[in-house]
Amino acid sequence: MGEAPFYLAQGDECALFERCHAQRLAVLLKGPTGCGKTRFVEHMAWRLGRPLVTVACHDDLAASDLIGRYLVHHDRTAWHDGPLARAVREGAICYLDEVVEARQDTVVVLHALTDHRRILPIDKTGEQLAAPPEFMLVLSYNPGYQRLVKDLKPSTRQRFVALEFDFPAPAQEARVVQRESGCADSDAAALVQLAQRLRQLQAQGLAEVPGTRLLVAAARLVAAGTDPRTACRVALLAPLSDDPVLLQAMQELVDASFA
Ligand SMILES: Nc1ncnc2c1ncn2[C@@H]1O[C@H](COP(=O)(O)OP(=O)(O)OP(=O)(O)O)[C@@H](O)[C@H]1O
Ligand SMILES: [Mg+2]
Repeated sequence: MGEAPFYLAQGDECALFERCHAQRLAVLLKGPTGCGKTRFVEHMAWRLGRPLVTVACHDDLAASDLIGRYLVHHDRTAWHDGPLARAVREGAICYLDEVVEARQDTVVVLHALTDHRRILPIDKTGEQLAAPPEFMLVLSYNPGYQRLVKDLKPSTRQRFVALEFDFPAPAQEARVVQRESGCADSDAAALVQLAQRLRQLQAQGLAEVPGTRLLVAAARLVAAGTDPRTACRVALLAPLSDDPVLLQAMQELVDASFA
């Protein structure tokens, strides 16, 4: 087993997750983009010594994409497990990323897995897959994003323990940025301070605020020798907005941070 994926805990989320796993409870991770949800699951799967099966959900994801389908081989058809069925058989941690994107009829296949039954019915083969104790279902979603259009139904939400994520506190976020990029401590601190200011612009119309992921990207360019102002422009500001007025206001904050 290789090295643990680096994850800097923000609180007691690691212990809580381990308890949920031991108690066979499914978990929902809520939090903005780029705040460490995926990294947390990778870290926890490593700690629990379970394989991790990740599925990126989208609005075209059908139940059969998760469960499996018959495929034709030469002159006969054979059943192929989808990622969810495979995860149940292996006793893996199955991570469904951005689950609100998935179609409602797809989400419903999770219901029998996330209550006392813990089974995955495979209608097409007639099989009822019983989940072993090690199996765990983890969902993530980004509250606020498209929330008026899409949301999880209460009958789905109430099957999960929900862990709330946010960006790490400044000192911790600077540690993450430094460690992930190899940049100087002073650059990491300046980037995090800048991010604090940019995140306040949400009130002024910035729809999406920068996550830790964007800070890491900017820091990597800086560590590779890019001028910090350029690195911030291309890796931090441009991905956030196309509005020239907002971009100009943000660039002024950058220039003030890296004078
Ligand atoms: N607590 C943390 N410990 C270690 N790295 C972190 C942490 N938080 C954020 N990161 C860094 O930020 C990057 C983005 O995090 P991650 O991919 O886990 O975000 P996410 O919450 O899954 O975002 P999305 O909702 O867009 O999928 C990681 O690749 C890692 O470099
Ligand atoms: Mg993610």
